Amino acid sequence: MNKSFQMEPVIIVLFGASGDLSARKVIPALYNLHLDGLLPEQYEIVGVARSSLQDEMVRERFHQGVDQYSRRGSAKKEEWDSFAEHIHYIQSNYDDPTLYERLTKLGNTDWEIPPNIVFYMATPPNLFTVVIDQLGCFPELKGDIRYRIVIEKPFGHDLRSAKALNQRLLQVFEEKQIYRIDHYLGKETVQNILAFRFGNAMWEPIWNRNFIDHVQITVSEKIGIGRRGRYYDSAGALRDMIQNHLMQLLCLIAMEAPTAFTADQIRNKKVDVIHAIRTINKADVPAVAVRGQYGQGWIDGKQVPAYRNEKDVDRNSNTETFAALKLFVDNWRWQGVPFYLRTGKCMPGRVSEISLQFRPVPHHPFAHLNTQVFQANRLVLQIEPNEGVVLRTQAKEPGMGMKLKPVDMSYCYKDVFHQASPDAYETLLVDIMRNDPGLFMRADQVEAAWGVIDPVLEVWSENTDLNFPNYQAGQWGPPEAESLVAQDRRTWLLPISFEPK
Ligand code: BG6
Repeated sequence: MNKSFQMEPVIIVLFGASGDLSARKVIPALYNLHLDGLLPEQYEIVGVARSSLQDEMVRERFHQGVDQYSRRGSAKKEEWDSFAEHIHYIQSNYDDPTLYERLTKLGNTDWEIPPNIVFYMATPPNLFTVVIDQLGCFPELKGDIRYRIVIEKPFGHDLRSAKALNQRLLQVFEEKQIYRIDHYLGKETVQNILAFRFGNAMWEPIWNRNFIDHVQITVSEKIGIGRRGRYYDSAGALRDMIQNHLMQLLCLIAMEAPTAFTADQIRNKKVDVIHAIRTINKADVPAVAVRGQYGQGWIDGKQVPAYRNEKDVDRNSNTETFAALKLFVDNWRWQGVPFYLRTGKCMPGRVSEISLQFRPVPHHPFAHLNTQVFQANRLVLQIEPNEGVVLRTQAKEPGMGMKLKPVDMSYCYKDVFHQASPDAYETLLVDIMRNDPGLFMRADQVEAAWGVIDPVLEVWSENTDLNFPNYQAGQWGPPEAESLVAQDRRTWLLPISFEPK
């Protein structure tokens, strides 16, 4: 991150300060920015929540969060103290008008430059409109870029609710003041997709239907739903991951080149992709979408309970913990190229990878020779935990005769750059403070993404899956997911780190 940018003073109002997200993500990110000198000289963090806590108790909770989740590990005492003095806490109900009288006056400081005020919604989603309604009592906020609002996902539950939330937000703020978070966009390797595609001339001529057979996007998680049963059981994998994170990855792969690296240019190109995604008719859902739910199984030698036995989950839950989709982007570049997306909990490993599978060579001059397994080229963008790029090509194996073998040309972030990547939340917080919305979702983008998956959500909610649970914890999803690609004579590609050596 660029230190030369002069940050204006800021007050961050953290709604939901006693919650998990604040302690796990937001505060550790702010702490690291503090250590890196990337926060303005004058800043305050004002936590707001209903819990009855003193400033000191909140600081202690945040301290524990930093020790546990900061990329730097446990905080050193002096460093923590210098950060903690910026933290304050207000205990209040979210619908109490006096809270907002107080918050909107926070800008009246004796600081030389009046601070920007960032309202950060780290609350459960049912409180979003409660807070927005209260902020709506202060019409002077609208259009004043000193005031910004940050909304965490889930942004709505379906297209209708997302539209309603956008409408309400846009009565109180202008679009330029609204930061809808998709933390995937803050990841270095996700941002690198743009650098990789548009900073190198060699990919463009082959980045299309003439050379690419299909694209696979896998975001698998080893963890289950932990303590998030209440939220997750009403969401499911399609809402939780595909509507946002995987859809954003798809956009970055499929978008056209922006003419400038500006927020609106990039967001326009991405939204063009979503609008080009072929509408899924409800009748076609079984052919293009697969859902799964994990049953009891084993991961890393530990027994994992079935999803339906997790805390706060309905014992007859019909919620999917795995989802796979086949999408088409109907435009000149991608006509006929399937994009296969899959994501799930309790899978064999945590890995996010995008594979572009190239077409095979048009003719095998080596066919009569003793070739090993002949693989078409594959380009893999590794998002995490391995961060890098792998290009799989064929090479001659040393020795007599012409034997071909797949070999990888690759680079790995940590070997090339020798420095730790900032956490996604750090990048996003800096962008919010310097008023750069490029890595955030615009209203039309969020709505378009809901539009893509809405028919699937409807069909799935109207029909209980009688096969649930249909994969064991520790497997790559249900057998039906294999059929989704097998019907096209393809298979899911094993993430690189899972391939046998
Ligand atoms: C969140 C989802 O948005 O992303 C979680 O709500 C998921 O269910 C998480 O675990 C994954 O993020 P990451 O950065 O760990 O890949």
